[in-house]
Amino acid sequence: MSFEPKLMGFMCNWCSYAGADLAGVSRYQYPPEIRIIKVMCSARVDPDIVLEMFIQGADGVFVGGCHIGDCHYIKGNYYAQQRMKVVKKILAKCGLEPERLRLGWVSASEGERFAKLMTEFTARIIELGPSPVSGEQPDLKKLRLLFAAKNVVDDFRIRSLLGKYVEFSEKGNIYGRKMSEEELDALLDSVMDDEFARISILLEASGKPVSVKDLARALNLSAAKVLQHIVTLKERDLLRLSRIEGITPLYQSSQGVGLGGV
Ligand code: FES
Repeated sequence: MSFEPKLMGFMCNWCSYAGADLAGVSRYQYPPEIRIIKVMCSARVDPDIVLEMFIQGADGVFVGGCHIGDCHYIKGNYYAQQRMKVVKKILAKCGLEPERLRLGWVSASEGERFAKLMTEFTARIIELGPSPVSGEQPDLKKLRLLFAAKNVVDDFRIRSLLGKYVEFSEKGNIYGRKMSEEELDALLDSVMDDEFARISILLEASGKPVSVKDLARALNLSAAKVLQHIVTLKERDLLRLSRIEGITPLYQSSQGVGLGGV
C-alpha cells in the first residue's frame, strides 16, 4: 500500500544544498515529500539529531554532503560517513531498517543527480512502508529502544572514537600507532554493543526487579557478560540491588534512562 512518507534531508551548504537549488532552477522533478534543512557541512549532522528525527516520526532521513575530497572543511564528509555508519547500526539494533537513513554526495553542479537521489530515496522508503515508530500506534518497544539509543551515541567513548576516527587512521593514536579502518570499526562495534547491552539492561530493569538469569534470557547474552555489565552500571550508579529472593539477587534501574516518558 502506498503512503506519503515523512522525509527529512540535511544538506550541506556548499554542495548538496546548492545542488538542490540547481535542481529547482533547472526544473528537475523530484518527489515533494522531503523537508530540507541546510547545515554548513555534513559533519554537523549529529547522530543524536538523526535519532531524534526518527523518534519524532520521520520515515526516512537523508544526509547530503560534498563528494569525498571536496568538503569545504577538508574532512567533514569523512566524519559524516563514520557517524552515519554508526547510526545505521543503531537503527538496526532498534528494529528499524538501516536503509531509512541514507548518506549521499551531490556537488553544486549536480542538480539532476540531486533530483535522482531524492526520487530513489523516496521510492525506497515507500517500498519499506511507514516507520514502525511513526504514526498513531508506534511500536513502543522500538520507540523506547530509540530513546535509549540516544544515550548510546552520547557515550563519551563512542564520541571520542568518532571524533578521532580520521586522526587515528591517518596519524595514529597518542603512541603513534595507526589503526586500520577495520580495526577502528571493530573497536567502535564492540563499544557500541557494550553500551547498547547496558541500556537494554536498564530498560529491562526499569519495571520490576530482574535477575541475571532473566536479563541473560531477554538479551540473549551469557550470564557472565550480563554480570560484567551490571558491575559497570552499578559503578555508574544507574543500577541497584533491589532485594535478594532466596539466593537470587534482583536488580532495578536507579533512574530513568532518557525514555522521554514512553
Ligand atoms: Fe559539504 Fe563538508 S562542506 S560535506
